Amino acid sequence: MTTLLSTSDVAKIVALQGPEQVFSSMLDYLLSDFLRWQEFDKSARVASHSRTGVIELMPTADSEFYSFKYVNGHPGNPQAGLSTVMAFGALARVATGEPLLISELTLTTALRTAVTSALAARALARPGSRKMALIGNGAQSEFQALAFHCVLGIDTLHVYDVDAGATRKLESNLAWVPGLRVVRFGSTAEAVKGADIVTTVTADKAYATILTPDMIEPGMHVNAVGGDCPGKTELHADVLRAGPVFVEYEPQTRIEGDLQQMPADFAVTELWRVLTGQGQGRRRAEDVTIFDSVGFALEDFSALRWLRDAARRHGIGARIEVAPRTADPKNLFGVVSEARSIQPALARG
Ligand SMILES: NC(=O)c1ccc[n+]([C@@H]2O[C@H](COP(=O)([O-])OP(=O)(O)OC[C@H]3O[C@@H](n4cnc5c(N)ncnc54)[C@H](O)[C@@H]3O)[C@@H](O)[C@H]2O)c1
Repeated sequence: MTTLLSTSDVAKIVALQGPEQVFSSMLDYLLSDFLRWQEFDKSARVASHSRTGVIELMPTADSEFYSFKYVNGHPGNPQAGLSTVMAFGALARVATGEPLLISELTLTTALRTAVTSALAARALARPGSRKMALIGNGAQSEFQALAFHCVLGIDTLHVYDVDAGATRKLESNLAWVPGLRVVRFGSTAEAVKGADIVTTVTADKAYATILTPDMIEPGMHVNAVGGDCPGKTELHADVLRAGPVFVEYEPQTRIEGDLQQMPADFAVTELWRVLTGQGQGRRRAEDVTIFDSVGFALEDFSALRWLRDAARRHGIGARIEVAPRTADPKNLFGVVSEARSIQPALARG
């Protein structure tokens, strides 16, 4: 039998554990998988582009589990009452191919993206960072804010969105969080002033330059989340030139990240190298570090493992039969209960 998790099931897990526990435990799963990077089958995701957006498949596997995620990115969707990003996926046992878990991954993508951002910032941002600018206050934004608050101790958020309604929604959603001050600004340039960390999580199918070099201050860590597709960027090329740039999986980021603007030999470091101590992170307090995030299949693999364990612990999720269990696995035809009644029809045929 396979476990099926709906969005409300995942929301229930989040409510039962609380954000701190969710972020810290998911971070442990992610970190442990990043630390054994070499054990994974890795490939850039398979993308199907259209005029309005993209639909992508993201597979990966280690020797025990295989996972994939289906995810879209359609920046115009909110105008049609749909989310920009929607996702679902599965975890299967490599030894037999048996599907173990099928889950919603829309909510889970927001959680794992926020945890990945926090994991990267914990390794790359200046120690003692407390102030974060959050540009783009849509679906992902509160998750980013909470992960940075819980994991890094961010206590002040400078927020800006071209849609003032999105910022009001964020303020109202985060009003209950103790120790987190949210300050609204009228432009990106004002919001990023004096920030230790700048997170950009905007959605626009365009070569946007949300951050320009004049906005970058010594010591900043830039967490660029929204430029994740060919023809969709957030950083001016000179922002990338300002610092060492860190990526998840280089072959994928060269196609999809802000990095798509740069020549093929522009130097980047994969995050796993910093996490394992094999690569250099921030050298000096005044360095500018840039995490050009696009989202990699390994993060969904970790999130699916986390979901499976959490669902089991809390007894959440339906059990469904997506593959038949028969006394004789070769007798698949026996599963068709109408087999006998269709025989005369076939004979007549
Ligand atoms: N890197 C990853 O792993 C990852 C994961 C999930 C989503 N994303 C990307 O993150 C982005 C945001 O996703 P979402 O689900 O929050 O989308 P969303 O549509 O819900 O929110 C995006 C927000 O950006 C705002 N915005 C657009 N242009 C802006 C600008 N110039 N300045 C300020 N704000 C601006 C919009 O008004 C909107 O409120 C998308 O591009 C998505 O593809 C990346």
